[in-house]
Amino acid sequence: MITPTEPDEATAAFIAGMPKAELHVHLEGTLEPVQRLEFAQRNAVALPENDVAVYTDLTSFLASYYPNMAVLQTERDFFDLAYAYLTKATAQGVRHTEMFFDPQAHTSRGIPFSTVITGYHDAVVRAEFEFDISAQLILCFLRDHSAESAMDTLAESLSYRHWIVGVGLDSDERGNPPSKFAAVFARARAEGYLLTMHCDVDQPNSIEHIRQAIEDIGVDRIDHGTNILEDPRLVALARDRGIGLTSCPLSNAVVSDGGKAPEIVELLRAGVKITVNSDDPPYFGGYLTENLLALAATTDLTRDEFVRLQRNAFEISWISAVDRDAHLARLDAYVAGWAR
Ligand code: ADE
Ligand code: ZN
Repeated sequence: MITPTEPDEATAAFIAGMPKAELHVHLEGTLEPVQRLEFAQRNAVALPENDVAVYTDLTSFLASYYPNMAVLQTERDFFDLAYAYLTKATAQGVRHTEMFFDPQAHTSRGIPFSTVITGYHDAVVRAEFEFDISAQLILCFLRDHSAESAMDTLAESLSYRHWIVGVGLDSDERGNPPSKFAAVFARARAEGYLLTMHCDVDQPNSIEHIRQAIEDIGVDRIDHGTNILEDPRLVALARDRGIGLTSCPLSNAVVSDGGKAPEIVELLRAGVKITVNSDDPPYFGGYLTENLLALAATTDLTRDEFVRLQRNAFEISWISAVDRDAHLARLDAYVAGWAR
């Protein structure tokens, strides 16, 4: 039984100041309304008169999400979008981030892959130079597009292989199981990419999709994936193989019945490497710190357990062992500083 408790001021400050890793954020999902206006003006893209969006599930969210991308046209737009996110993330104590991008959402409307990846990559290089942050790009395939389109996108990505750490799978899960992309993910693995995929919360066949992701595809991580609790065998498998789950409480609270806080607590306490992330921050009401504070307000998680969530994030991140250990040492030093 979980007793919700608002975090006291000191705990909130502890959470806000913690060195963090974020592993589940969609760059296109970081588009703030004010940026959308700015990009629309400079690219002369007309916006609908009255476009206040209401969404209550994944499908209705995506229906307002993709049209907003029409304002992203030039390399500068992609640069500015990623650079703004990296600036905000740095201010929240994020020291390492792995960011999704959706090339097909742009190539399908005539924007070249090279424009998208060059803008994003330049922002990564600039932010790494200017801020105390490291950042990597994960290419996501749109699961409601064909497997052939995903395979073509994978082939196109290979010219930029050194700028991309892994591949993922996002968009509308209904009727688009992991198995549809088995050959694409096998080829991606052979090319040296690390593998993750969305198993969004409370989808039709969620647990079968999670099983396919783990047993048939052999993913390294799962994005969301809290429905894994429906099958204790898969929970044990994820725990034993160290397969990370990247959960997003504020996003889950909008597209499903709740923020999945009890599930996150249960999985953390079962020893699964679960983490907290922001998904699409302006769409769901908060960046990483706000997601952690929302979890603090709705669970009895202790400070040690918030530290465990961040340890998990560094441990399942796709960085070198040396960098990972440096991040973990910095986290330990932060905790020790508070204990003094
Ligand atoms: N694209 C952006 N956010 C997403 C999410 N939470 N699930 C699936 N696709 C997405
Ligand atoms: Zn997501």
